[in-house]
Amino acid sequence: MKAVINENVTLFRYEKSHDDLFEGCWPIRDGVSINAYCVCGTEKKVLIDYTESGASFDSDLADMGLRLEDIDILVLNHMEPDHTGALNVLFTRCPNIEVYATRLGATETETLYGHKNVHVITNGEELNIGGKTLVFYATPNIHWPDTMMTYIKEDGILFSCDAFGAFGSYQSVFDDELTEKEWALLKPETERYYASIVASFSPFVLRGIKALSALDIKTICPSHGIVWRKDPGYVVAWYQKLATYLEGPREKEITILISSMYGNTLSYISNLVQIAKKEGIVVNTVRIPDTNDSYALEKVWRSEAFVVAAPTYEMELFPSMAHTLDLLNRKAVKGRKVLYFGSSLWSGGAAKEFNAYAEKMKLEVIDSIEFRGKGTPADRQKIEDGFKKLIEAIK
Ligand SMILES: Cc1cc2nc3c(=O)[nH]c(=O)nc-3n(C[C@H](O)[C@H](O)[C@H](O)COP(=O)(O)O)c2cc1C
Ligand SMILES: [Fe+2]
Ligand SMILES: [Fe+2]
Repeated sequence: MKAVINENVTLFRYEKSHDDLFEGCWPIRDGVSINAYCVCGTEKKVLIDYTESGASFDSDLADMGLRLEDIDILVLNHMEPDHTGALNVLFTRCPNIEVYATRLGATETETLYGHKNVHVITNGEELNIGGKTLVFYATPNIHWPDTMMTYIKEDGILFSCDAFGAFGSYQSVFDDELTEKEWALLKPETERYYASIVASFSPFVLRGIKALSALDIKTICPSHGIVWRKDPGYVVAWYQKLATYLEGPREKEITILISSMYGNTLSYISNLVQIAKKEGIVVNTVRIPDTNDSYALEKVWRSEAFVVAAPTYEMELFPSMAHTLDLLNRKAVKGRKVLYFGSSLWSGGAAKEFNAYAEKMKLEVIDSIEFRGKGTPADRQKIEDGFKKLIEAIK
């Protein structure tokens, strides 16, 4: 699909199959787009990023009266194969195309595609393509070490690579076209994308936003999701907020992660949800493993507190919950307040493993409660008290 951004800039948007996994692990049941852009100066035609498969690129270019061979310059904002996978085809058909990338991007272009002839950009370097000036900014580690962004000086358009992107597929191209239903998808799918893809690199996001703050950005063209032309500041502020969740402050929300084989651990949840609601605290519940980890990560990332409710299984924490905690740890979830409780029958063991995770993740443990079977009234009281303490801790 092709869309006009302005008279010089065209978006080529390709939707990944909803059955695919993004990066081989993140479900995209609501889709994700891969965005490439064509910028036509009076002297040079530039492609910013490519695609995974190259499919329908030719017909989209043909609609503009162009062939792939007419492209003079290829800018690679980062080398992840969702944007470069089909480069072998491009390099075969356009052996003399000028390629612009960071130093690391150049190395990767050779490693991945055997292409040696890459112009290595310097930070702030300008390239005149006839009536338009492209400026390249190195923005390492958002989210790959080779990442850069490209800016059209005259138009204030920032091609921001994976930053300011989102999961989800949208009929609309621009922020000002989004329907209410699309906004309702964009909110969680931006946050799930951020938590899954970018969160670990939050300090670099803050650094990048600061470094670009002097630019007069009128439009943001990310490599996934929608184009922000009405209010680019909105997505910048949003990403800034998401990045600050790394160290806090975060939202006064509690996310309850629940695993239960036979309902004993589960039987405590509805009461806790009611308590939170009565206190005016937003509470999210996520069943593990019924719900993919990335949806848990999205909610825990913004929450000041979370609850791990899971039974003992073979002397350790319920395996799916251990897997989820491992993911949260890898994705830099730390410093939040947390309550653990779970059922066991014999000598237990889940709390011990949970406590080890909590220590590794520098979580503030409000309580860690293991009980037998369905639990006693005293257990019930202890869990309720722990949950109320958790609420007080984030108020
Ligand atoms: C496969 C399996 C392994 C278990 N391993 C242990 C164990 O090692 N130690 C223990 O105390 N209880 C163990 N249990 C007992 C459960 O923790 C107990 O049935 C608990 O009440 C289940 O809670 P739930 O109803 O929330 O799933 C195991 C249960 C199952 C089904
Ligand atoms: Fe990427
Ligand atoms: Fe990407």
